[in-house]
Amino acid sequence: MNEKILVLDFGGQYNQLIARRVRDFNVYAEILPYTTDLETIKANGYKGIIFTGGPNSVFDMESPHYTKDILDIGVPVLGICYGCQLIAWMGDGKVATAPVSEYGKIELQLSKDSLLWENVPEKSVVWMSHTDYISEPPKGFEIIAKTDNCPCAAMQNVDRKLYAVQFHPEVTHSEYGNQMLRNFVFNVCGCTGDWKMDSFIDTTVEKLREKIGDKKVVLGLSGGVDSSVAAALLSRAVGKQLTCVFVDQGLMRKDEGDFVEKTFTSLFDMNFVRVNCGDHFLAMLKGVVDPEQKRKIIGTEFYKVFWDEVRKQAEDGFFAQGTIYPDRIESGKGKSKDKANTAVIKTHHNMVEKPSDIQFLGTIEPLKDLFKDEVRKVGEMLGIPHELVWRQPFPGPGLGVRIVGDITAEKIRILQDADFVLRDEMAKNGYEKNLSQFFCVYTGSKSVGVMGDHRTYENVIAIRAVTTDDFMTADWARIPYDILATVSNRITNEVDGVNRIVYDITSKPPGTVEWE
Ligand code: XMP
Repeated sequence: MNEKILVLDFGGQYNQLIARRVRDFNVYAEILPYTTDLETIKANGYKGIIFTGGPNSVFDMESPHYTKDILDIGVPVLGICYGCQLIAWMGDGKVATAPVSEYGKIELQLSKDSLLWENVPEKSVVWMSHTDYISEPPKGFEIIAKTDNCPCAAMQNVDRKLYAVQFHPEVTHSEYGNQMLRNFVFNVCGCTGDWKMDSFIDTTVEKLREKIGDKKVVLGLSGGVDSSVAAALLSRAVGKQLTCVFVDQGLMRKDEGDFVEKTFTSLFDMNFVRVNCGDHFLAMLKGVVDPEQKRKIIGTEFYKVFWDEVRKQAEDGFFAQGTIYPDRIESGKGKSKDKANTAVIKTHHNMVEKPSDIQFLGTIEPLKDLFKDEVRKVGEMLGIPHELVWRQPFPGPGLGVRIVGDITAEKIRILQDADFVLRDEMAKNGYEKNLSQFFCVYTGSKSVGVMGDHRTYENVIAIRAVTTDDFMTADWARIPYDILATVSNRITNEVDGVNRIVYDITSKPPGTVEWE
């Protein structure tokens, strides 16, 4: 059993970031909602607990609170922002509306020695975001840092191993924030750092073998990062007992279906079933122009085809999927949804129920505790090609949401060829790493052009490229003009049926990343 830190979620926007920071120290961290009862927390054997921030005021009775007994179970606690005020409030300190609320980068001045301050200079910049503050620390606590407008920016009760900071050490704007978190995890909680990806692989493989025994497992493989890594891990554990079902609906990027098939059949031991149903999808989508209608048809048909295939494989076996940790956490609301025991399929935008006539021995989610960057690390260690592990997100409905208007085989061909050129140039210029997502769009517009002495009337292709942290908002990427020029030249020369290229310079909002 690994050392564990609990991140107790009071609704702060950075709760996943806190857990990721701790995991970067090779210490396992998990997020649970503030509604988790104390008995469960005690039973889980945590080495330390971090109270997250949150948007509320502690003196509002509707705000998330927790029984103060949690401070007396002998497990070290670090409160951050709202969590800091909560510790003061639990211990009869005074929390008040600050005369001056602090937001942004503020200078922190350390005023007393603390285990938290190892290798932290006396003055440094931290990220503050609060309107309330601690006007009087609770009994037994001493103030260990202040700012110009916050007399108690950090406090501690060394005997009870309770620590609290008004600022956000988890964000990169706090210069020594990471060091402070590290100090809490190692100096206060006494962790040693036993959460490593290679040991994760070994223990997961062992657990999978134990659970699966001599039974079969079926996994839906999309070719995306998560399902690919789940496939590789299961392959290592049970080899040919694993069957991966890959539905090729004909709306993938150029040659992508072949690439996925080749990767998994040549590098990994498993049964690989590819269902080619491009024609069926084209027939179902014929004449449909409404984007939501297209999405719906693609989604519904996809799962029909998928479950029909799985039904053939399901007898007396397990169902596996590449759910990862963020899929299970509904962030920002202080609630967690544990999907571990329900056979629902994960897609980017929704969870799909399993048809009731298909019975499995159980659901297996080998990546359910990992963040995306950890999944990628595991993928690389398992030998999945770099380009698959680091691929950009690709929407479930595929090119279906990148063709404006109705979908035909010819439009798919044009878009695939144009998109191939864009990706090829990005790779050649090593520019992919600067972009979160980039692709071509078949705009559905035609424009007049000239070719030699002839007038042409051909298709307009748009280039879309964005940078973003979370895809909720995004900025259009400033790709250098000379790269854009080459892409434009090559597409108009190499792709039949295209005579004009435009560059989408819309950020999100008001635009979305996709066009449909
Ligand atoms: P939007 O267009 O909503 O895209 O700004 C944000 C991110 O979501 C992806 N996306 C989808 N993914 N099914 C998916 O699996 C969809 O219907 C879908 N629509 C958008 C998009 O590629 C981007 O990464």
